[in-house]
Amino acid sequence: SYVDWEIDAAEKGGYEHFMFKEIMEQPQALRRAILPRIREGEVCFEDFGLSQDYVRAMSKVYIVACGSSYHVGMVGKYVLERLTRRPVEVALASEFRYMDPIVDGSTLVVVISQSGETLDTMAALREAKRLGAKVLSIVNVVGSSIARESDEVLYTWAGPEIAVATTKGYSTQLAVLDLLALWFARVLGTVAPEEYHTILDEMTRLPDKMERVLAERDSIQYFASHWFNHNSIFFMGRNLDYALGLEGSLKLKEISYIHSEAYASGELKHGTISLVEEGTLVVALGTYDRLFEKAMSNVVEVKARGADVLALTTESHSGEMEKTADGVMTIPDTHELLLPSLGVVPLQLFAYYVALMRGCDIDKPRNLAKSVTVE
Ligand code: G6P
Repeated sequence: SYVDWEIDAAEKGGYEHFMFKEIMEQPQALRRAILPRIREGEVCFEDFGLSQDYVRAMSKVYIVACGSSYHVGMVGKYVLERLTRRPVEVALASEFRYMDPIVDGSTLVVVISQSGETLDTMAALREAKRLGAKVLSIVNVVGSSIARESDEVLYTWAGPEIAVATTKGYSTQLAVLDLLALWFARVLGTVAPEEYHTILDEMTRLPDKMERVLAERDSIQYFASHWFNHNSIFFMGRNLDYALGLEGSLKLKEISYIHSEAYASGELKHGTISLVEEGTLVVALGTYDRLFEKAMSNVVEVKARGADVLALTTESHSGEMEKTADGVMTIPDTHELLLPSLGVVPLQLFAYYVALMRGCDIDKPRNLAKSVTVE
């Protein structure tokens, strides 16, 4: 009825879908996740029991999660290793629980979960504790099972997330993990003070920069209208862009049902290029400044085989990318370790608009659940 529709629309803040509402809420969610944790230019976690001595004695970090939360871990590995020079492993919770992982009392297991109820993630957490590790979780839902069983919890404060495909969950988890990496690096003395302050400063600017990305959504909608009919899409990138591509690809397949996969660009010649033919869409991620030339040469390579290329890059490189790619999505420049925080937004929007044009049930994609509480 009309009344039901009105209530429904009000819950969605006037938007057609929760997913879109949650994409648009990200700058605000990031403010909540980041700003209270920076005081007088230092990372500051309240009610936090990890001591500096514990951090100094930590031999490695093991990140365990499922789905998009696992992709946050994939980005986090680059950030943590870069800043702390400590080894970081990332495992799918469903694998970790059966792999006899090398974990002991000096391993910090970081569990990431939006819902705090994912069964595999919970089982991995219990396995980690059984092996004597300390468990720190990054969770959105306050008081959830994973939060309750962890030694330490950092909440993402993203607010309720309703759409099955996570968006603000992902971006706030990533922000919290970045802050954690910075704090570790500060304690360990593995980051130059100048860089530490630059990254922290840039983190406070992320919400506003993300608003600029969201303001450009019409151009993403235009690209989606151009390519929504494709039935197979590849995402490629290196390092942080590879980790970002994993999430872009998952988002797209989850809600639009288009077959898609993400691969590390260097692997192109080891298989995927055999599937690139006239009209294949390749989403080329080239946000990472130091690897930009490599990204460009991979774009040239797939173009030569007839691919359509939709690229993602920063403002400082968009001019050059436009010469070769068929479409370019642009994000503001920021510290290189923070690029995935901005880069994920055009990929979420692209998946959303593609699914919209294909008439998919965006908030409740077939066969998927918001939190997977069975194995
Ligand atoms: C489901 C959701 C995903 C989410 C994953 C992990 O598959 O559809 O969006 O990334 O579960 O959920 P969690 O709540 O543990 O982050």
